[in-house]
Amino acid sequence: MNVDLVSGALGAEVINFDLNYLNNKNFEEINNLLLEHKVVFFRNQSLTLEKFIEIASMFGPVEEHAYVKGIEKYPQITRIIKAANEKNQWGEGWHSDVSYDLTPSKVIMLKSLKIPPIGGDTVFSNMELALETLDEVIKKIIQNKKAIHTSNGSKFFVENYSKMESNGKIGEQYSNEHPIIRTHPETGKKILYVNPTYTKKIVGLPDDESSDLLNYIFKHQERLDLSCRFKWTENAIAILDNRSTQHYAIADFYSGRGLGHERVMDRISIVGDKPF
Ligand code: SIN
Repeated sequence: MNVDLVSGALGAEVINFDLNYLNNKNFEEINNLLLEHKVVFFRNQSLTLEKFIEIASMFGPVEEHAYVKGIEKYPQITRIIKAANEKNQWGEGWHSDVSYDLTPSKVIMLKSLKIPPIGGDTVFSNMELALETLDEVIKKIIQNKKAIHTSNGSKFFVENYSKMESNGKIGEQYSNEHPIIRTHPETGKKILYVNPTYTKKIVGLPDDESSDLLNYIFKHQERLDLSCRFKWTENAIAILDNRSTQHYAIADFYSGRGLGHERVMDRISIVGDKPF
């Protein structure tokens, strides 16, 4: 399989591979690429919705989103829609998907259906590297500590997006504690596992100390030398390891440039393990 690396930190684009021909043998290759590069991209993929689900299922059981209603007949697929007139975008801000769940998603697959002529790239960041490059004193402080991750409620996922619909779990709020340094269940590598969207507090620290420490770590995680940026074209696929990365969908839709165009993505997630 031919790949082009997207940045020095993470990301690999697989060249000229049609995911319709995925089988057990080449799946192994793709999964190895995913573990090594953390996010893998494919372009010009013409997949039926059934095929999209079938490919995702090779990584493990697929799941429905905690708050967002899936598409008709395929509740496992969340359609992420930024309406033409909207400036904001779902997934704006650094996060690792559903980290507030007891068992946050293992892998996420995104497929671009409609992309503005300019704007709406997604940035991914390598949280193994974030841990490696973190100040040693901070590493010692967070060793064996846990943090609380809390969902921001149904409204957070649908209110600002006119075309996103709740699955009805309006009042539900999910909250779980996870180790700040988690271990990747397949590679054994250590990962910095907090994110500014869902991580609210470090367990056992006074509020101000927790907030100072988290803000320091969030700032570190934003370092551009830990990231790669993917410019979407229609029918591109990103498969991302949600355990060892964070991502940020950039809402750079301004008048005379990206504003006035729809952006539509299909998303499927795969059930993960309890972080340890
Ligand atoms: C997300 O955060 O899951 C959305 C990513 C994107 O639309 O690029």
